[in-house]
Amino acid sequence: MSAIVVDHLKKTFRVTVKQPGVVGTLKSLIRPERKDFHAVDDISFKIQEGEFTAFLGPNGAGKTTTIKILTGILNLTSGEVSVLGHDPFKRDNELRRSIALVMGNKQQLWWDLPAWESFIVLKELYGVSEAGFKKRIDALVPALSLEDKLHTQVRKMSLGERMKCELVAALLHSPRVVFLDEPTIGLDVVSQQRIRSFLRDYQKETDCTVVLTSHYMQDVAELCRRVLLIDKGRMVYDGLIEDLAKAHASEKRLRLTFTDQIDETDVTPFGSVVSFSGSDVVLTMPKADSAQKIGQILQSLPVLDITVEEPSVEEIISELMSGSGLPVSRET
Ligand SMILES: Nc1ncnc2c1ncn2[C@@H]1O[C@H](COP(=O)(O)OP(=O)(O)O)[C@@H](O)[C@H]1O
Ligand SMILES: [Mg+2]
Repeated sequence: MSAIVVDHLKKTFRVTVKQPGVVGTLKSLIRPERKDFHAVDDISFKIQEGEFTAFLGPNGAGKTTTIKILTGILNLTSGEVSVLGHDPFKRDNELRRSIALVMGNKQQLWWDLPAWESFIVLKELYGVSEAGFKKRIDALVPALSLEDKLHTQVRKMSLGERMKCELVAALLHSPRVVFLDEPTIGLDVVSQQRIRSFLRDYQKETDCTVVLTSHYMQDVAELCRRVLLIDKGRMVYDGLIEDLAKAHASEKRLRLTFTDQIDETDVTPFGSVVSFSGSDVVLTMPKADSAQKIGQILQSLPVLDITVEEPSVEEIISELMSGSGLPVSRET
């Protein structure tokens, strides 16, 4: 059964257009000019129960907006969405008790309370039984190594500890669908790793449905089988991570070192330049004619060393984003 259905979803914001400069500011104060901004522009997808899906895209792509619609925080402009068969914006209790939302840049725990007291409040709020609560705490707290932190005021915790507590809080009521919006943002590598392995084990054990947005491709590569990629409110890719790699195995990446400095224009005929530093060049080129191109490079340029690499998932994803008109950051 589909846990999440999104059908031709659109979300349009009315925004004020400001002309540049002081005059522009004054004009927009007196007679504000408004226009429609399509934050989510006709996207459709389905997510099956028990799937762990990455929801990716550059900043401003519309990920958070979509998640807010799916969790009933925002209403949609047109189209249809359903989560576990419910319309999220109706916010009925049954659905509220079956979903969870964790936002890396927003907290739901009370700043001045010890984490434990927040958990108790949430237990009451969600109507979790005493036995159920104990069972959840006993499972979640050790899994996140929070035993020593439960009675610490949230404000005194490190960002990583706070995020782990947010996860406990969000999962106390055994939600069947979990939305994680940048849960590892800003965390140190160790905390990221810890949360990542927790999420992997947790999802395996409970078989809940997870939708994850993250800037860290390692999160995605380790956790998710499926990727939804959006850009400027539109769907760019929907499929398995491994197919993403297959589809792009048509690209070869060449790392070249030359005995002398060369000009960037010397290598541009052979592929697209990823990075260039005089005698070190990284090039990508279609796999189909790579053998021929490599032959030509060896003949015409002073090559000291050459290695051929397959692009990583991270690169493939940024490649896809660039295909949709986004700038790809160069390596330099
Ligand atoms: N309440 C709002 N009013 C106007 N524009 C908004 C509002 N919320 C989000 N946006 C705009 O919609 C776009 C998508 O935002 P968001 O969903 O937060 O992107 P993402 O999470 O993918 O970075 C952005 O351009 C953002 O500025
Ligand atoms: Mg966002």
